[in-house]
Amino acid sequence: MSLRSSHFRSIILPTVFFIGLLSSSAQQNEDPTITTMEAFSGYPLHEPNESPTLHLASSLSLDAQALQEQIDELSTFSDSTAPSVTRILYSEKDVLARRYVKNLMRLAGLSVREDAVGNIFGRWDGYKPELAAVATGSHTDAIPYSGKYDGVVGVLGAIEAINVLKRSGFKPKRSLEIIFFTSEEPTRFGISCLGSRLLAGSEALAEGLKTTVDGQNISFLDAARAAGYAKDKDELSSVFMKKGDYFAFLELHIEQGPILEEEGVSIGVVTAIAAPASIKVDFEGNGGHAGAVLMPNRNDAGLAAAELALAVEKHVLESGSVDTVGTVGILELHPGAINSIPSKSHLEIDTRDIDEERRNLVIEKIHKSAVTIAKHRQVKLSEFKIVNQDPPALSGKLVIETMVAASRELNLTHKLMISRAYHDSLFMARICPMGMIFIPCYKGYSHKPEEYASPQDMANGVKVLALTLAKLASL
Ligand SMILES: *[C@@H]1O[C@H](CO)[C@@H](O)[C@H](O)[C@H]1NC(C)=O
Ligand SMILES: *[C@@H]1O[C@H](CO)[C@@H](O)[C@H](O)[C@H]1NC(C)=O
Ligand SMILES: [Zn+2]
Repeated sequence: MSLRSSHFRSIILPTVFFIGLLSSSAQQNEDPTITTMEAFSGYPLHEPNESPTLHLASSLSLDAQALQEQIDELSTFSDSTAPSVTRILYSEKDVLARRYVKNLMRLAGLSVREDAVGNIFGRWDGYKPELAAVATGSHTDAIPYSGKYDGVVGVLGAIEAINVLKRSGFKPKRSLEIIFFTSEEPTRFGISCLGSRLLAGSEALAEGLKTTVDGQNISFLDAARAAGYAKDKDELSSVFMKKGDYFAFLELHIEQGPILEEEGVSIGVVTAIAAPASIKVDFEGNGGHAGAVLMPNRNDAGLAAAELALAVEKHVLESGSVDTVGTVGILELHPGAINSIPSKSHLEIDTRDIDEERRNLVIEKIHKSAVTIAKHRQVKLSEFKIVNQDPPALSGKLVIETMVAASRELNLTHKLMISRAYHDSLFMARICPMGMIFIPCYKGYSHKPEEYASPQDMANGVKVLALTLAKLASL
């Protein structure tokens, strides 16, 4: 492993050096007559034709204390006691949190609008407002008994990034827009990334939401209406946006994994987001008494499940890539008695990859194995259901390069990495080039009260976000 990485460095270093050479020679090759005439007259003849973000990195001043206070305050809109946070879609606490965020957006001078499911947008018009805007954002809903940083850093951090840019005197060419996404977590209606999925144009979701109910049999539409949204059920498709509506989308997020902290790296530049597919499988056999039915006469649904679980591992490993993963997180046997041959078994399988074809091949192989195993063991494959199969997404090349450039100019160490959890950015990638900025979080903890990101790490992330936004908004 260490051999491989040092080999890797020796490839990367000369490239960086080469780029450095290129840019310095470009500076020397500027039209010499301009310099001469300026020197002669004593006045500059031209507006200096330099990048509007050239000196921005050193003039970004951030109020890390204010950001921390806002995060603490937002965490008090919770249905569980501190330090845990519980904030479920369209609950009273969710509505209060929304009000708090909209207020901060207005204080930052942004114009605020909301769509039919409560995605909230705060816009800073550029001086070329007809150009596609650069957007950034995340979510603030929180699963039961979780922490206060997941998603929140990408919403409140985005508002602070705008404040930082405004304080620096920067004027965006493209408009900048902050998006607060409705319900990234699937807690209430079993649908993850509800707001971004719909915004990215999912017809299936717009249709499905009309009949979706929560665990209390409250319909999505009633819940949305109670929170002040979805006044007309046919209005859900008005949430859709299309390719070209945004120039780029960025999301600042805690890593939710331990890599950045362990390696002491400040910024994770996300190059791809892996996406899960989930599968439910049921086998049925005859069952019977554990003593009375002899081995040749059995058709054991439990062993079929066990065999399939091992097949999942085998097919995932066959892909040959560390990025392919598969998990059998649920394996249930019926009737579940020591002296009874399992007559039914139920498995739930999660498989992820950053390469959709490779992941779908794994799913196909799992399906073939399930059929073969059922045949050999004389059990019935009563269900093989692919519950969801979202495509993974690659970050935009230009967005990656801009995030890297911003990290360098801010003298922050960075690392290219893959997001193995998925985020609203996965869906934004359907309509525009996307990128994510990760910051370290304590031990990689997330979705629990111990979740923590230091003010310094958040400040670094907000600065990289601000500078990346500024650079993209200047194109
Ligand atoms: C980064 O480091 C360089 C060289 O030490 C320094 O000139 C520059 O001001 C630093 N930039 C920032 C944003 O701190
Ligand atoms: C849920 O509500 C609908 C409409 O109010 C009703 O028809 C249905 O029986 C309810 N289902 C359950 C499981 O209570
Ligand atoms: Zn999140």
